[in-house]
Amino acid sequence: SKRVAILLSGGGSNMMTLVDSMTGDHPARPCFVGSNDPNAGGLAKAAAQGIPTGAVDHKPFGKDRGAFEDALRALIDAHAPDIVCLAGFMRVLTADFVQAYEGRMLNIHPSLLPKYKGLHTHARALEAGDAEAGCTVHEVTPLLDDGPILGQARVAVEAGDTPDTLAQRVLTQEHRLYPAVLRRFASGDRTPVIL
Ligand code: GAR
Repeated sequence: SKRVAILLSGGGSNMMTLVDSMTGDHPARPCFVGSNDPNAGGLAKAAAQGIPTGAVDHKPFGKDRGAFEDALRALIDAHAPDIVCLAGFMRVLTADFVQAYEGRMLNIHPSLLPKYKGLHTHARALEAGDAEAGCTVHEVTPLLDDGPILGQARVAVEAGDTPDTLAQRVLTQEHRLYPAVLRRFASGDRTPVIL
């Protein structure tokens, strides 16, 4: 089966839904969970599932993104993944890193791309008065939050929504969308998943 490495920076709820999905006849299995933050909550959750984990703290590298990424790549590549899933990984990646996993690295982003690349997506959707919000899984290319869309899920914006309430409702959809996209992608099918 395909080997999947997952990178995160935070609590790892998306990582957990991916891990939980990779059982039975699923075409992939988790091989590694990595982070730029040694204290990320998701690392402990993965370790508790018996998955190898590791971190490269970006802070000591300062502005030297290349050296940070070389160290992270060495850690990832030691586990020989076929697919790399970014799941709440909050460092911008250089073209060199992206090219090392070209065509086999996915990201989940909490907006309906191409709208609201970057940060504060929910506040920006509310500010714009959008009637709907959502999340996107896409193939990672050197441009930030760009690349072919592999799936989207939409949610209605409700009266009284704040960035936090909207984020929570979108996150629930992320937990449906990302496993559905990974399963399809790991089986060699890039047809977008529309939920
Ligand atoms: C998710 O909402 C994900 O879409 C977002 O961070 C959250 C991570 O939550 N990712 C980004 O904003 C990427 N720029 P999690 O750690 O519970 O999966």
